[in-house]
Amino acid sequence: MTDVTGVGVGSWRTRACELADNLTTDGAITGSLWREAFQNTPRHVFVPRFWALDKYNAPTYLIDGADPAHQAEWLDAVYSDQFLATQWTPQDGRRMITSSASLPTLVARMLHLLDVQDNDRVLEIGTGTGYNTALLCHRVGDTAVASVDIDPILVAEAQARLAQIGYRPQIAAGDGAQGLQQDTPYSRILSTCASPGVPTEWIIQLATEGKIVAPFIVGGALAVLTKTGPSEVSGRLNSEQAWFMPLRPADKPLPEGYLVDQPEPPPDQRQHHGTAEVDPGAFADPDFRLWLCLHLPADARIIDIVNNDFTRTGVIVHTTEHRATAEFPAGNTASPSLITQDERRLFDTVEAAWQAWQRWGRPDRSRVGITAHTDGTQNAWLDSPTSGMTWPLPTCPPPK
Ligand SMILES: C[S@@+](CC[C@H](N)C(=O)[O-])C[C@H]1O[C@@H](n2cnc3c(N)ncnc32)[C@H](O)[C@@H]1O
Repeated sequence: MTDVTGVGVGSWRTRACELADNLTTDGAITGSLWREAFQNTPRHVFVPRFWALDKYNAPTYLIDGADPAHQAEWLDAVYSDQFLATQWTPQDGRRMITSSASLPTLVARMLHLLDVQDNDRVLEIGTGTGYNTALLCHRVGDTAVASVDIDPILVAEAQARLAQIGYRPQIAAGDGAQGLQQDTPYSRILSTCASPGVPTEWIIQLATEGKIVAPFIVGGALAVLTKTGPSEVSGRLNSEQAWFMPLRPADKPLPEGYLVDQPEPPPDQRQHHGTAEVDPGAFADPDFRLWLCLHLPADARIIDIVNNDFTRTGVIVHTTEHRATAEFPAGNTASPSLITQDERRLFDTVEAAWQAWQRWGRPDRSRVGITAHTDGTQNAWLDSPTSGMTWPLPTCPPPK
């Protein structure tokens, strides 16, 4: 017996069970209920084709399950622990991935963090292929699941795939930053796209003591937030990184300011030359990079300068208008780095952040938390909201 994509039913079940086994062995699936969901959800129905990627993660050619020449490769990829790019848009001469089936390990870990209970009503932000929606439908029943995606074509496709396996959750096209007004409150909100801060509507639409699991743009942060008051959510970052594509406005591949152009270096007379005592090795630590992002302006980007064997020889820190460059000492990390920066002196901020990071015991990301209110005020903090070490997060979206 074959299903509509031509895959033998026995064949996909065996593969889905193997995927569930591997995710259980890795510790990503922690209980029998999610294990059953992964075993019984045909990922190939939700990813009938995907884009092969080059070494820079740019889409190259389509691998279509309907093409006999690609079917074996397609099916192997669909039931392995791979993120699969399913849609891209040209932007600034590049192919920007605008939808994907997320990495199954990450899907499983986020579902675990969501701590779903039998009677929960769940809102998913970023329907994409519909695979994650199907897992949620298996766990709590399709009438308890709602999902929203900015792209109406993706929504229609996901709806049809979900119906094909017997699920009819509420799926809508719209901006997930506005949540989904119908049938609120939700006891769980799961976002599969990254936002700059906590959208106000998510807090409003969340039930008391409800939970949000969401990735944030800053440093690949993944937060688990609980509704701690009528107008407040609060919680900590998970120790794992989670890099997701950002929440974008309709008809735009990426939000404005997401791709920040590097400004040209100013003329030499406006440059400041100096040295800085920062351990170059720290730039390889994702938790230090997150810490840096919290200290730098919201539009700052940190770019590694690498040589041919990918050894990091320095970094560029820039915003739209300002730029600083650090050249690391060759082979001798005890020597200071050479700094060139314009009048904004972004690297002074990096150096101050480095000193604070050491003073606070090189905190990993699980010591960082977020508290957000419906009036739009939101902060990240270290250890507790009252530790004195806090950083404002961008309001998302601005309160009405
Ligand atoms: C990583 S994919 C989602 C993966 C999906 N959960 C799955 O299982 O296939 C991120 C999705 O977020 C959607 N998205 C981006 N901006 C959005 C927004 N403002 N509101 C809702 N969805 C958005 C994209 O269209 C994309 O489909």
